[in-house]
Amino acid sequence: MKTRINGINLAYNDQGTGTALIFLHAFPLNRTMWRPQEEALSRRYRVVVVDLRGHGESDAPLWRFTLEQYADDVAGLMDHLSIPRAVLVGLSMGGYVGFAFYRKYAERVRGLVLADTRAQADTDEARTGRFNLAQTAFRQGPEAVADIMIPKLLGASSLKTKPDLVDHVRRMITGNEVSGMIVDLIAMADRPDSLSLLPQITCPTVVIVGEEDHTTPAADARLIVQGIAGAKLAVIPGAGHISNLEQPEQFNKVIDEFAAGLR
Ligand code: MLT
Repeated sequence: MKTRINGINLAYNDQGTGTALIFLHAFPLNRTMWRPQEEALSRRYRVVVVDLRGHGESDAPLWRFTLEQYADDVAGLMDHLSIPRAVLVGLSMGGYVGFAFYRKYAERVRGLVLADTRAQADTDEARTGRFNLAQTAFRQGPEAVADIMIPKLLGASSLKTKPDLVDHVRRMITGNEVSGMIVDLIAMADRPDSLSLLPQITCPTVVIVGEEDHTTPAADARLIVQGIAGAKLAVIPGAGHISNLEQPEQFNKVIDEFAAGLR
C-alpha cells in the first residue's frame, strides 16, 4: 500500500490486530527485510512495516538530510493509520530513527525494541567512511554498495550457509535509488549522540544483538542497556547484523515475549 505523507509517497504494509508494532529497517535495505516478522507476528499483533523515504517502493527525493525527517514520516504514517501509540522495532539505522522518534514523540512510544544498533554518534573516521560510500554510490551505483555492505550486514554463518538470504539482501540494496542511499549516509553522519537520551527513555525497552554482529557489536548493545532503566538484553547466536533475517525464530520469540508483556 502507498499513501502520501509529508509530500511524498510512502509504501507500507499493515496486517493483523492488537498492539501495534512498527518496524523500521536498516541501511540500505527496505521493508521486505521484515517478512519473517510480518508472517509470524501479524497473527497476534498489528504489524506495520514501512519503506522509509529513499528506500524500496517509497519516493527517494533529495530532501532534508536528517533522521528527524524519517521520524516525522513515521509519525505521519501513524496518524494516517489512526495508531496513537506503538512499539517501535528499529534495526541499526532503524534504531537511529527510533531514537530520533523518541526525542520528538516520546508519548507515542509504547515500547522500544533496539536491534543491532548503537547510541553513540559517528566518530570522525566513521563519518569519512560514510562520505566515501556516498561517492561510491554516486559514481558506481548500488551494485558497488552491495559488494561493500553485504559482508558488514550478514554474519559469517549466514554468508557461508544461506545463499538465498545473501541474494535477498543484494536485491534489497540494488533495488534502492542512489539518491536515497546518499540521503541516508548524510543523515546518519549528522545524527546526534543518543547516549544522553538514554536516561530519559522511560518506556519498556529490549535491546537485541546478533552474536556475530561486527558492525554494531555486543559492546554497543550493552551501552544502550546500561543507559535505559530496566532495559533487557537479548543476544542471538548464529546471527550477524541483520539478526531478524538471520535467525528469525529467535528474533520473533524476543519480540513476542516483549509485546505480550506490555498487555
Ligand atoms: C545499518 O545497518 O543500518 C547500517 O549499517 C548502520 C550504520 O551504518 O551505522
